Amino acid sequence: WTLGAEWVSREIEKIREKVKGGTVICGLSGGVDSTVSAAITQRAVGDRLYCVFVDHGMLRKDEGQRVMETYRSLDLNVRYVDAGERFLKALEGVTEPERKRKIIGELFIRVFEEEARRIGGSDWLLQGTIYPDVVESGHGGGGVIKSHHNVGGLPKDMKMGLLEPLRDLFKDEVRRVGRTLGIAPHFLGRHPFPGPGLAVRCLGELRKERLDILRDADAIFIEEIRNFGLYDDIWQAFCVLLPVRSVGVVGDVRSYGETIVLRAVSSLDAMTAEWVRLPYELLDTVSRRICNEVPQVNRVTLDVTSKPPATIEWE
Ligand code: XMP
Repeated sequence: WTLGAEWVSREIEKIREKVKGGTVICGLSGGVDSTVSAAITQRAVGDRLYCVFVDHGMLRKDEGQRVMETYRSLDLNVRYVDAGERFLKALEGVTEPERKRKIIGELFIRVFEEEARRIGGSDWLLQGTIYPDVVESGHGGGGVIKSHHNVGGLPKDMKMGLLEPLRDLFKDEVRRVGRTLGIAPHFLGRHPFPGPGLAVRCLGELRKERLDILRDADAIFIEEIRNFGLYDDIWQAFCVLLPVRSVGVVGDVRSYGETIVLRAVSSLDAMTAEWVRLPYELLDTVSRRICNEVPQVNRVTLDVTSKPPATIEWE
């Protein structure tokens, strides 16, 4: 079972049978899973697939723009919706991780439904759910660990049917399907990014200023990982912003600044993960650059926990 051309044609056939003459709306997240789902569904239903890219304001630096360029190069029919302020307003004062996830998941679906109405209604909602999402949301027989927003957060009164072509696949299998569909390797090789985005990496209250600090630090970390030639060896690397400030000193002046955590893990399927032994030289460069270039930060720390007992994301 290679997930090559044969698997793809069979899946395309299944989607056709299910959707019949209906229309499909798809929320693209910028990640591999939703992109591969959209690409395979487009092969099945053609221009009856409408993609919506919701910028929830919790994307990485310059991500919205870069992702839209990729979608255009894949000829996907995509509408960009800038909903950043709306999401931040809904999340005002919320710090509890599961509530953050629920609010984001539900608002996401609402925005999709608005878009679906704009195009005159849609019969199906396409989601890039993959197998680990199903298991970790407690739908695979275990208890709920985190409600992944593409599984747990769907409103009970949703009118559309749910289409999840990648539901039985692990990440490496999704990448193989993507290759079969002709999606560029550099896009498929990007580190996974959670649906709720930086919301689960910005601990405590989500405010634009705090998200910007996290974005700037994260961009530096990833840039240096690429400079050291390690990006493709790492499953996922990112920064976390803690709701903890600490005392520092610059020159003779006391500071009371933000704390960044560096997180890098290796994994095969995200079910388990091992923290990556990054070179000291890289860590040193990243730490100095973050403190110099992101003035609000005065402390950089390293997460040396594997999964289990920790999860990859902090929330
Ligand atoms: P955890 O933190 O549970 O993450 O060890 C396992 C993998 O899943 C990603 N992740 C998500 N992906 N929606 C997604 O599509 C989500 O809500 C979500 N939460 C976590 C995470 O980045 C890691 O790769």
